[in-house]
Amino acid sequence: MLAIVQEEFGGPEVLSPRERPAPEPGPGQVRVSVAAAGVHLIDTAFRRGDPPFPPSELPTVPGREVAGTVDAAGPGAEVWLGRDVVVHLGMAGGGYAEQVLVEAGSLHERPAGLEPAAAVAMIGTGRTALLLLDQATITAADTVLVTSAAGGLGALLVQAARRAGARVVGLAGGPEKTARVTALGAVPVDYRDPAWPEHLRVVGKDATVVLDGVGGEIGRAVLEQLRPGGRAVVFGFSSGDRDWFATARAVRPDVTFPPGLAERPTGAVLRGLESRALAEAAAGRLVPHVTAFPLIEAAAAHRALEERRTTGKVVLIP
Ligand SMILES: NC(=O)c1ccc[n+]([C@@H]2O[C@H](COP(=O)([O-])OP(=O)(O)OC[C@H]3O[C@@H](n4cnc5c(N)ncnc54)[C@H](OP(=O)(O)O)[C@@H]3O)[C@@H](O)[C@H]2O)c1
Repeated sequence: MLAIVQEEFGGPEVLSPRERPAPEPGPGQVRVSVAAAGVHLIDTAFRRGDPPFPPSELPTVPGREVAGTVDAAGPGAEVWLGRDVVVHLGMAGGGYAEQVLVEAGSLHERPAGLEPAAAVAMIGTGRTALLLLDQATITAADTVLVTSAAGGLGALLVQAARRAGARVVGLAGGPEKTARVTALGAVPVDYRDPAWPEHLRVVGKDATVVLDGVGGEIGRAVLEQLRPGGRAVVFGFSSGDRDWFATARAVRPDVTFPPGLAERPTGAVLRGLESRALAEAAAGRLVPHVTAFPLIEAAAAHRALEERRTTGKVVLIP
């Protein structure tokens, strides 16, 4: 089988397509024939070996989310044979491959009508979106500012906030992304336009909620728009500003900061979020947009993410 193997830390070129023997499932395990594998911006940080993330053991096959079909089952897991599934692999990884071993207990049946790429978008990014939305408690009375609003997570957050009846301002880089923000029913702000801070001050006036995974200059600008007493859910620092979680709280001591991802659920709670995320997409209430690359072009997918050229969730298709 083809797998994308990383033998050293570095640029996208360290992701090498290699032939590897098909893995054999042990007790309680299945082998999934992969139809779509998820890629995260954070996978690029793992690939570079960037702190503060603990370095992966090398060699490794990256990828923590897959959808596909069970093509072999170990003792005790035979009930899954031939079923269409979707699964978050946790830190085990191995998703950037044609086949991957999975503990049967972590599998979800892929809902009928939900394409593998869409299911992959929901099992990780969708579950995170629901966790953050539960904390934000958005209603029709809110004005919500979302950064990187055309991204994997951002586009889901915009949709959910619009469904709750809120007014939403979506910030993104460039006309292709802002067109997507507009299509999702939000007011766009293009932060490649030098006049964007003034534009934000007008359209983001009196915001009550901030949902931010970018931080840095952009995160600071949206926080400054927040009304005293507002809620700021801060969940990432795509800008590279590693101190962002602390800085954000110092910038706005007068607003509420729900925990974001600082209190990550585990076990049944996490699994419940995964089930809800899949159900939201199966019912059409959340529609993940996907940018797909062939598996063999995993390095190009990483490059595109790092160069901010993707919209929606990035997936690899074997
Ligand atoms: N997806 C998840 O499950 C998950 C889980 C935990 C944490 N997070 C965090 O949530 C944030 C969004 O995650 P995502 O998976 O949905 O990613 P994403 O938004 O699809 O990531 C790519 C986008 O990030 C934005 N970005 C801003 N500054 C950037 C920079 N310096 N370099 C590269 N990209 C930059 C770009 O959009 P613009 O050009 O529009 O700015 C880019 O297209 C990230 O901080 C991530 O670490 C995500």
